[in-house]
Amino acid sequence: MTESQDFFITLEDKYGAHNYHPLPVVLEKGEGIYVWDTDGNKYFDFLSAYSAVNQGHCHPKIVKALTDQAQKLTLTSRAFYNNSLGEYEKYITEYFHFDKVLPMNTGAEAVETALKLCRKWAYKKKGISENQAVILFATENFHGRTLAIVSASTDPDSKGEFGPYLPGIQIVQYNNIDSLEQALDTNPNIAGFVVEPIQGEAGVIVPDDGYLQKASELCKKHNVLFIADEVQTGIARTGRLLATCGNCTCEKKDCSGTPEVKPDILILGKAVSGGVFPVSAVLANDEIMLCIQPGEHGSTFGGNPLANKVAIAALEVVKEESLAENAYQLGIIFRERMGNIKSPIIETYRGQGLLNAVVITPFEFEGENKTAMDVCLKLRDNGLLAKPTHDHIIRFAPPLVISEEELNKACDIIEETILGFS
Ligand SMILES: Cc1ncc(COP(=O)(O)O)c(C=O)c1O
Repeated sequence: MTESQDFFITLEDKYGAHNYHPLPVVLEKGEGIYVWDTDGNKYFDFLSAYSAVNQGHCHPKIVKALTDQAQKLTLTSRAFYNNSLGEYEKYITEYFHFDKVLPMNTGAEAVETALKLCRKWAYKKKGISENQAVILFATENFHGRTLAIVSASTDPDSKGEFGPYLPGIQIVQYNNIDSLEQALDTNPNIAGFVVEPIQGEAGVIVPDDGYLQKASELCKKHNVLFIADEVQTGIARTGRLLATCGNCTCEKKDCSGTPEVKPDILILGKAVSGGVFPVSAVLANDEIMLCIQPGEHGSTFGGNPLANKVAIAALEVVKEESLAENAYQLGIIFRERMGNIKSPIIETYRGQGLLNAVVITPFEFEGENKTAMDVCLKLRDNGLLAKPTHDHIIRFAPPLVISEEELNKACDIIEETILGFS
């Protein structure tokens, strides 16, 4: 770490809350799949701001949409109409095949919105008695950081000492149909099941084939809303426009047409804006969405003109640049390359599209105990940025605009770094 980077780190450490533990590198510029630190060193970005920058850093089309709109009108609040919200609502609902969208800003806000919508639907449509609705969540879930959301967490770090927690939450085992079925069979007050199609923060946990489909069928049978949190998996990350589009081969330009599982409520965030601006969205059909009436939910910034224009541009880029197809093809190559690394420190690797993880066995090197963080520090020194999730898992999620040649160069760095520890 150079003196100049130390300066910025010390500044954050002194004046910022200590709620993150960043990898020590200070970035000042990004373009496409690369970022540069304050000393001018260039890195492959293999985190993509937790899959927000799927379209690549500072994508010119998205930045242009932002700067053009910024000179005209940035915020009206929803007290008045603006001339870009309807355009965006039409665009995103047609894109994902839902009747309506409720625009918010962050992923956590969109999850909160989905929970409120689910409860309203439970009382208005399902006929659950007032205050009795229960929403199911999966073990090891990650849906954000608000109080309602951490109430549903099973991670002690996320949840501990933030009580009292929100009632009306029940946990089922992830990737376990029997656990879900048992909950649904025994509790008539269940209104919804919130699930990540692949659990990103838990370490890129990919459920068994057919799990999501069976879960959605069970929910339908019990008149329970199937709520997909695709904040991290959505927008082409897993090699499909949505991770719930299981049937799609991704040979088509528009791979949103034949979803394997059509959630009742779809939650999106992060890459909806290409990482340029906080934009999140909750999508549902009229039967559900119209349960919320004026005055019952909202956000000053939700649906603002900057967000609307940025999101349209970001979603156009996904199709124009065939990002789902690219993620699908390059994901296969990435996992092949990881599988070819012969090292005792790799316990396993897994993923879909360009959302992948390598699990590191804790190991000793030069007389010291090492973890995934040590591997990430070495990767940084070798020109690639990635971050451990938990102590032993490294998530690899580059921007989806990466080419095959670039991916292979990045895989060379990962291979050399890992072999350097043996
Ligand atoms: C699946 C999922 N849901 C929700 C969120 C929360 O999004 P945000 O950090 O924008 O609030 C995240 C963030 O990582 C996520 O991965």
